[in-house]
Amino acid sequence: MTDTTLYPVPQSALDHTLCDHDRYMKMYAQSVEDPEGFWRDHKDRLDWFKVPTKIKDTNFSGPVSIRWFDDGQLNACYNCVDRHLETDRDTVAFIFEGDDPSVTSTITYGDLHSHVCRFANILLKNGVKKGDRVTLYMPMIPEASYAMLACARIGAVHSVIFGGFSSEAIAGRLDDCQSDFIITADEGIRGAKTIPLKANVDKAIQILKESYKQEVKKVLMIAHTNASVPLTSGRDILYHEELETVDADCPCTPMNAEDPLFILYTSGSTGKPKGVLHTTGGYLLWASLTHEYVFDYKKGEIYWCTADVGWITGHSYIVYGPLSNCATSVIFEGVPNYPDSGRFWEVVDKHQVNIFYTAPTAIRAVMKEGDHLVTQHSRASLRLLGTVGEPINPEAWNWYYSVVGDKRCQIVDTWWQTETGGAMITPLPGATALKPGSATRPIFGIKPALLDAEGTILEGAASGNLVILDSWPGQMRTVYGDHERFVQTYFSTYDGMYFTGDGCRRDEDGYYWITGRVDDVINVSGHRMGTAEVESALVAHHHIAEAAVVGFPHDIKGQGIYAYVTCNADIEPDETLKSELTKWVRTEIGPIASPDAIQFAPGLPKTRSGKIMRRILRKIAEKDFSNLGDTSTLADPSIVEDLIATRQKE
Ligand code: WTA
Repeated sequence: MTDTTLYPVPQSALDHTLCDHDRYMKMYAQSVEDPEGFWRDHKDRLDWFKVPTKIKDTNFSGPVSIRWFDDGQLNACYNCVDRHLETDRDTVAFIFEGDDPSVTSTITYGDLHSHVCRFANILLKNGVKKGDRVTLYMPMIPEASYAMLACARIGAVHSVIFGGFSSEAIAGRLDDCQSDFIITADEGIRGAKTIPLKANVDKAIQILKESYKQEVKKVLMIAHTNASVPLTSGRDILYHEELETVDADCPCTPMNAEDPLFILYTSGSTGKPKGVLHTTGGYLLWASLTHEYVFDYKKGEIYWCTADVGWITGHSYIVYGPLSNCATSVIFEGVPNYPDSGRFWEVVDKHQVNIFYTAPTAIRAVMKEGDHLVTQHSRASLRLLGTVGEPINPEAWNWYYSVVGDKRCQIVDTWWQTETGGAMITPLPGATALKPGSATRPIFGIKPALLDAEGTILEGAASGNLVILDSWPGQMRTVYGDHERFVQTYFSTYDGMYFTGDGCRRDEDGYYWITGRVDDVINVSGHRMGTAEVESALVAHHHIAEAAVVGFPHDIKGQGIYAYVTCNADIEPDETLKSELTKWVRTEIGPIASPDAIQFAPGLPKTRSGKIMRRILRKIAEKDFSNLGDTSTLADPSIVEDLIATRQKE
């Protein structure tokens, strides 16, 4: 049951607020009635080398084109670092908390400036130029953000690949954006386990050479664990050695507002991952403004977003948003359950964290270990709690609110996507009364709408597909190298509207409740996984003839990956093959795509025209056998009976 009780804004949020209810209503109304005027005013939160006179030039139909602040010039790194130096050289930008609880360090804005300048000079010295794509495959250490900012400083375009992706996945991404410069570390450490980052990069380069006939020019390696790893001379360069050779000063390259800032790959419902392209001015403005309003951030507060920089949450809410606002943030290398499941709250006390932002999957994982792991830590510094990545179930919301936040802290359940650049539907502290499980209301400039399958806009309380009617500055501009795919994916379902791929309900108070993906994307631990991607990995195995992958409910992950596989005729399926397939998917995509369950299927349920009926497969995976819906179009109904019989035995 959904709890629709309105939770009033806690006093702590009211005392603090940047934007109360009336101000939110007024600003929101202005932002949608007069976007030009609204963004003309708000662009001034950034420092521009050339102040834009053009504001919004966007088109969702005809030729889809999205341009903001088109004649402006700025540099994202300058806005995140240099502009704070005069007043805040000694303010702490990052508090680093290692995987090992005894490892902590602080980096001031002054330190950050010299690290980033040196890093940028290393890139320049090694031939990186404005517009080049630089791939990062890094642990969660401060150097990851130095590397991103160094790219931004010299106008190179970073493409960060999460450390949980495999060599195959890295090779595909290197090829897609024609990137020939990689920044990595010898190893990562998470939960006391090492991750062989450099070895994975070496293998990716091999695959790139063999399968894609492409070469990588340089690999810049940071010694993090000091493991001994093989180096290729002429190609591999060592950060610590290079540091000795460069200056701590490097000018910021002026960039046009619409010059690319970064590419970030994300899974879609079809084909290989898409390179989501964000540009400089609009993205930075969006990350900066949403960070300040959503977290009601005031200078001097300690803010902690537990995401990894390999995901958009890390880009917008560890690097670009907080730094542009001169915030002090925790960068955390570890995992929620090491050394024990009280680690989050131990770190909250240790660094006196005021604002804490994490994913529902992490909340569920620590919740199941018991309240004592929370209550043994004070948490008195906490003022605001946030979530992102997937719908939060009311049970987890209530636990977060009552146990972690002692009913004192407002919760911001922020709905957004890699494509949107930053938060879109979210409560604002002090402005929005809460309902557990609802992302509540749109932020400035966002016009959500719900549509039915026929494309009719639904009014009032309704359920439908969530679209956004007009552009906002943080919107992705294109799929890197494939504008047609961008148009097809987001603007072809409903003409003239951005289609999010999410289903959603709006209640009688105008609150939005995201119900999850309506396409073939599943959300595993808050990470997007395309079912097509996992299927194509499975069928690439020489014993597998066909595969269909669906999501199914998982207590901790939200959704798990359920794979139905049909073996070649001469293969006897058994447990050994199941574990081989799991290993195979880990190699093809990465550990984050490991199937949670594999069911051997003699055949897959198909329509007479040969289309796999995933709806039925989802029901069987959920063990919801009584509710299979219309099965009259099945080519061979006995296949479904077989699948049910096998599933029932489990
Ligand atoms: C889901 C993560 C419900 C949604 C920032 C979206 C959410 C996808 C929420 C994007 C939320 C994200 N409530 N669902 N608060 N936040 N989602 O690109 O399905 O990794 O489309 O971006 O996550 O995932 P992505």
